[in-house]
Amino acid sequence: MKRFVLSVMAALPFMLFAGCGWSNASSHTAPAEAEKVAEAVAEKSGKDQIFEPGSFENPQVCAGCHSDIYEQWAHSMHANAWENKWYQPDYMMANEETDGLTEMLCGPCHAPIAARTGLLPPADGSKFDATSRRGISCDFCHTVTGVAEMANMGHISEPGNTKRGPRGDGESLYHEVAFSEIHTKADFCGSCHMVIHPITGVHIIDTWEDWKNNEYGKQNITCQNCHMTPTPGVGQNPGRSAGMGAQRDNIAFHTFTGGSSYIQDALGNEKQAEMAREFLRAAAEVKLSEKVADDGTLELTVDVHNVGAGHKIPTGTTYIRKLWLQVEVMDGNGKVVYSSGHIDDKNNVDPDAVFFRLLFLDAEGNLTGKSWRAHAIGYDRRIPAKGKDSETYSIKLPGKGEYTVNTRLMYRSFTQATLDEIHERTGDSLPPVTSVEMAAAQTRVKF
Ligand code: HEC
Ligand code: HEC
Ligand code: HEC
Ligand code: HEC
Ligand code: HEC
Repeated sequence: MKRFVLSVMAALPFMLFAGCGWSNASSHTAPAEAEKVAEAVAEKSGKDQIFEPGSFENPQVCAGCHSDIYEQWAHSMHANAWENKWYQPDYMMANEETDGLTEMLCGPCHAPIAARTGLLPPADGSKFDATSRRGISCDFCHTVTGVAEMANMGHISEPGNTKRGPRGDGESLYHEVAFSEIHTKADFCGSCHMVIHPITGVHIIDTWEDWKNNEYGKQNITCQNCHMTPTPGVGQNPGRSAGMGAQRDNIAFHTFTGGSSYIQDALGNEKQAEMAREFLRAAAEVKLSEKVADDGTLELTVDVHNVGAGHKIPTGTTYIRKLWLQVEVMDGNGKVVYSSGHIDDKNNVDPDAVFFRLLFLDAEGNLTGKSWRAHAIGYDRRIPAKGKDSETYSIKLPGKGEYTVNTRLMYRSFTQATLDEIHERTGDSLPPVTSVEMAAAQTRVKF
């Protein structure tokens, strides 16, 4: 088997970033943390992590016996992680701006099998085989033997006939089965759901460390507990994982549902889209308190509670997603007398709305949602797990009467501006982004 040493590969993005003129990187001393990540991955998993193409099996092979799990996974965002039409433009732009230096940063998470079998680079995926194109698939996850570092895909792979999972007591005619503790732990997910910029050390995605430090992490309510069951929250899914397998109380569900209803709808996966909306609705609650002053000023306080997510909302690519508040006040005739957070006729959200999200600062100090340009965090307003965020609106009521107040917490997977920009750059028309109501509350006030 042809083998390279991982230390070179793992340190590659770091070394390349440090050596180029991109984002003033050449004059930049990498913070200890970023350096630590690159070095630790190299050191701890000092195994040979480049394998022959074909070392990982095609998910179609597993489908033969694990048909339910295959169906669930095949419609998941993991299966779509590379071919994703919404990922590709961002990835390509990163590559153009960094002269191809990001391919071995983004690739290991979005196309781990390609990265581990030397089919990436080149960045455009032209060397990919059929297995590589299917993103994060069965045989990548089930041949992991450990996690070397908790960021930037620090998994250790041992592809082969032994499939590792949460039990180890099953029998399969096709493969060996082995118990693997890491598969039952949040760290298994966290090593990919934790992205650290290799030069600036900015925590681009921080889902795992956020979880680790909050109540869910402390009580060890894992990512799997919520995301590998059919419904939001901790759930059960009794059955068999393979036709010939044993009956079990709870079979790990493989849809890995998150908030991506827009993409799932666009792909024609209605069931998955509805599951994503269910997750979004389970995450939040909105509560109102209001007071009208003698001069007719309505003081409206909107409390947004994160009741269902094991991490901040939003989490993940929070610099791409958008959560915001819509507030509308109507008089007795149904006429809108105040509005914030509405969507205009170009499908853009009111720029003055209250936003819950994160944005970076680039080298010039401008706000950006482009992860590879991140030099620092520029804006961070997210709602912590089991916590809340409040906003008070001062609204001048136009006259005596009764008013209805509607508030909604809204979610979008992308900003319309991002999609418009993709259209301008590539000519690709992606469907207009849709909005999901995560929570709502209504009240009536009198002046
Ligand atoms: C010939 C049928 C067959 C094929 C093909 C097959 N499996 Fe299995 N697999 C089984 C059976 C049966 C079990 C045992 C299920 C049980 O009793 O819980 C199993 C168990 C597993 C487990 C559970 C390990 C644990 O925790 O005990 C994993 C993981 C797994 N298979 C992964 C795979 C992957 C990945 C593929 C494709 C590369 C695959 N299987 C292909 C039949 C098959
Ligand atoms: C992102 C990584 C990932 C991918 C992709 C993935 N799995 Fe799993 N799988 C897991 C984890 C983690 C568990 C254990 C979850 C738990 O028990 O908490 C698991 C559990 C299983 C089990 C044991 C189920 C049980 O409860 O007895 C089988 C069988 C299995 N996976 C097969 C597959 C097959 C087949 C595919 C592809 C169609 C697949 N997995 C794709 C991570 C993955
Ligand atoms: C090899 C890296 C990797 C591993 C391991 C991994 N993920 Fe992911 N995950 C990703 C990537 C990349 C995406 C984004 C795919 C996309 O949207 O194109 C993603 C997306 C998701 C989403 C978002 C789905 C949505 O609707 O937007 C959820 C939820 C998720 N993963 C949960 C998990 C859980 C739970 C585990 C552990 C059992 C896990 N992931 C393990 C890389 C990984
Ligand atoms: C208590 C249940 C719970 C736990 C534990 C949990 N999540 Fe979530 N997660 C949710 C809910 C509900 C949502 C939908 C709200 C949202 O999208 O923010 C979600 C959303 C997500 C998303 C999609 C974010 C987006 O909108 O793009 C990702 C990715 C994700 N979770 C990953 C993880 C990972 C990784 C872990 C473990 C470190 C984890 N989750 C732990 C409940 C949970
Ligand atoms: C350590 C693993 C990791 C690395 C490295 C990584 N990503 Fe991701 N990426 C993820 C995860 C996890 C998600 C899903 C988060 C969520 O759903 O909110 C994701 C989601 C995305 C999305 C949103 C896709 C969607 O379906 O909405 C884009 C775009 C993206 N990544 C671009 C990039 C680019 C460009 C790079 C390289 C500069 C990169 N990623 C590097 C793990 C990674």
